[in-house]
Amino acid sequence: MSIKIGLLGFGTVASGIPFLLKENAEKIIAAAHNDLEIAKVLVKDEDEKNRLIAAGHDYHFVTNVDEILNDADIQIVVELMGRIEPARTFITKALEAGKNVVSANKDLIATHGKELISLAQAKGVAFYYEAAVAGGIPILRTLANSLTSDKVTRILGVLNGTSNFMMTKMVDEGWTYEAALRTAQELGYAESDPTNDVEGIDAAYKAVILSQFGFGMTVDFDQVSHKGITTITPDDVAVAQELGYVIKLVGDIREVASGISAEVAPTFLPQNHPLASVNGVMNAVFVESIGIGESMYYGPGAGQKPTATSVMADIIRIARRLSDGNVGKAFNEFARETRLADSADVFAKYYFAINVPDKSGQILRLAEIFNTEDISFEQVLQQKANGEEARVVIITHELSKTQLESVIAKLNAVEDFQVVNTLKVLGD
Ligand code: NAP
Ligand code: HSE
Repeated sequence: MSIKIGLLGFGTVASGIPFLLKENAEKIIAAAHNDLEIAKVLVKDEDEKNRLIAAGHDYHFVTNVDEILNDADIQIVVELMGRIEPARTFITKALEAGKNVVSANKDLIATHGKELISLAQAKGVAFYYEAAVAGGIPILRTLANSLTSDKVTRILGVLNGTSNFMMTKMVDEGWTYEAALRTAQELGYAESDPTNDVEGIDAAYKAVILSQFGFGMTVDFDQVSHKGITTITPDDVAVAQELGYVIKLVGDIREVASGISAEVAPTFLPQNHPLASVNGVMNAVFVESIGIGESMYYGPGAGQKPTATSVMADIIRIARRLSDGNVGKAFNEFARETRLADSADVFAKYYFAINVPDKSGQILRLAEIFNTEDISFEQVLQQKANGEEARVVIITHELSKTQLESVIAKLNAVEDFQVVNTLKVLGD
């Protein structure tokens, strides 16, 4: 018997699926207990359809989604178009029509996942999205299945392949920002709007999904603070290296006494931290838990074949469940009341880069301001003056987010001080 699939979109990721179906057919059929057939593929218009046929793609291309939604033989719909609409409408209609759905669309799942998951459950069908987080790393199923008995206390992750690729090329090989972004786009890593990659938005979507699988809590997207790689300056990178750190865009989700906190920000990582050596398009998810302790899951975070492999894992799981007669099982069954952490309860060390007048007494003035917030210094570095200003770099001991906000406000209120950057610092 053959299980029929309808693909929505035929871009970077979707066009990697035929490769796996062809090159690994025997294993896939054995795992799925069925042959899998791409029955129809939705493309935008006739021009795209003709272009794909001319390029040798031998599929039944359609330009109206109803040809897939109304096709009773299609049991699995795979959405790989991206963005919110029309993906949300098409997935909703597919679920309402009793079809199982696979998607890699973190934008949609992070913002409208609840309604789609509820609909899938009400209809007794599957809605799976392993590829939505960290591309080729099977992290969602690992959290949902392998760590069932464990209690996760913190998840740290390099969660965006594009920005990690760009940072690696810029810092290690001296590429320009523009060249690094262009190459990430050519390699199929970037989102259709790469703003999401470089501003930390894409990683924040992934943090929302990880909060559900790791902690059973649903943090809304607007409750995840995010800053991207565009906030990092060459001076920050140089200071980090001088002090024994590397800067990476890190997603940080943790549970403290008052609840859960999630953020994405450029972060100073000690050079010996496992995440510090995650370079290029590679991603990694570093999990702290009471059972395993520390574990890290590493692999390509973006790209055609790695992502298509995660999509195929969902398709095969559904096909197998269709033959076993238990297809409606939820992707993630861990859910509990969501409690957001109090900012007075979320602690970290921070790096401050502050421009001050190049004259005597400035470190004392800075120390007095930090002292009013009860913040102590771990390291202080004054850089050679550039014109009338000197740059003071401070790494603090741990302080709460409340203290951070207060001290920044106090520093900003001083006319001749300029807070150039503040970044979180990991490590003891
Ligand atoms: P992509 O290359 O832009 O492919 C999306 C395709 O869907 C494009 O060909 C697009 O056509 C088409 N499309 C858009 N709207 C459509 C519509 N209404 N009807 C028919 N076709 C439509 O994107 P991708 O990189 O494959 O990403 C697909 C999804 O996977 C996204 O949700 C993305 O976030 C996710 N993802 C991607 C990666 C990766 O490494 N690329 C990794 C993990 C997850 P146009 O180009 O003409 O708009
Ligand atoms: N644009 C995303 C990234 C794709 O670069 O990580 C994978 O989600």
